[in-house]
Amino acid sequence: MTQVTVFGGSGFIGRHLVEHLGRAGASVRVATRHPPQTAEPSRLARIQQVEADILDDEAVQAAIRGADTVINLVGILSQAHRQTFTALHEAGARRVAASAKHLGVKQLIYVSALGAGRTAPALADRSKAAGEVAVRTAFPDATIIRPSLVYGSDDHFFNGFAARARRLPALPLIGGGQTRFQPVYVEDVVAGFTAILATPASRGKIYEFGGPRVYTFKELLEFVCATIRVRPLLVPVPFWAAELLGGLLQVFPGAPLTRDQVRLLRTDKVVSSFEPTLADIGVEARALETVVPEYLTVHQRG
Ligand SMILES: NC(=O)c1ccc[n+]([C@@H]2O[C@H](COP(=O)([O-])OP(=O)(O)OC[C@H]3O[C@@H](n4cnc5c(N)ncnc54)[C@H](OP(=O)(O)O)[C@@H]3O)[C@@H](O)[C@H]2O)c1
Repeated sequence: MTQVTVFGGSGFIGRHLVEHLGRAGASVRVATRHPPQTAEPSRLARIQQVEADILDDEAVQAAIRGADTVINLVGILSQAHRQTFTALHEAGARRVAASAKHLGVKQLIYVSALGAGRTAPALADRSKAAGEVAVRTAFPDATIIRPSLVYGSDDHFFNGFAARARRLPALPLIGGGQTRFQPVYVEDVVAGFTAILATPASRGKIYEFGGPRVYTFKELLEFVCATIRVRPLLVPVPFWAAELLGGLLQVFPGAPLTRDQVRLLRTDKVVSSFEPTLADIGVEARALETVVPEYLTVHQRG
């Protein structure tokens, strides 16, 4: 039976992936900083929660020992204390990859992001690019996945903007809302992981995961508002002004916007055509119009 360790298995994408792997018969170890304290019986007995901070060598090794497959989904969108982009996306990714190699793991998947690049405006994207290099150096056969914006019933993006659109009279369109995304459904992402795990030829490759269509940020926000039938004012805000605001807000814990998040919007998050995609591993990505209204309007219908 396959033994899989999933770092970041408690997060949005991780929860869907772990559930699927467990159902498919794998034995899954979810490595998280905060394993549930109460003995919440795992819905699937094969799913085990272990405490591991990716910043801690020993905890990382203990979480990996005995696994034949390791998946690293750890990522952040804003920094706090020791939780820096460099510490998690680069050094943490290197630690997982080096430990996996040392402990004889057969397959490693590192989840990066579309937009990752050595010269990207956002440190989050530059640190993901550095993480890709670090992983490749420590574990040359690792598979790297770069998703675009990922959505699903418990996503951060569509649920977050729907909540704001219901509450606020106006929403900002940073950079005029012209950043392009290729949103991809979390279950299609999970199907992509499954296909990669089952395909030895995927080792050592980079995959770019996007949905069937490209949308601007403004189009996505208009889609959310039309779906939940609200009409807040969409106000264009130039990048420089949003960066200024993000720089002021980010001193507060849990700030709604940081300067680096604004910089993330300076580059498009669409597949490049240089790397294989979901279609190359047999996954037909669903259109968001067939999925998102199902969960954004659930309480309106109820
Ligand atoms: N969601 C998207 O649209 C999207 C798009 C492109 C790329 N990605 C990438 O995909 C990955 C997963 O994204 P997501 O949306 O599922 O993120 P998420 O919901 O924010 O989950 C992040 C995960 O990282 C873990 N984590 C954070 N700091 C950690 C640390 N020091 N040690 C161990 N674990 C730590 C968290 O676990 P605990 O808090 O339980 O420890 C959590 O499980 C990330 O790398 C992200 O950059 C996501």
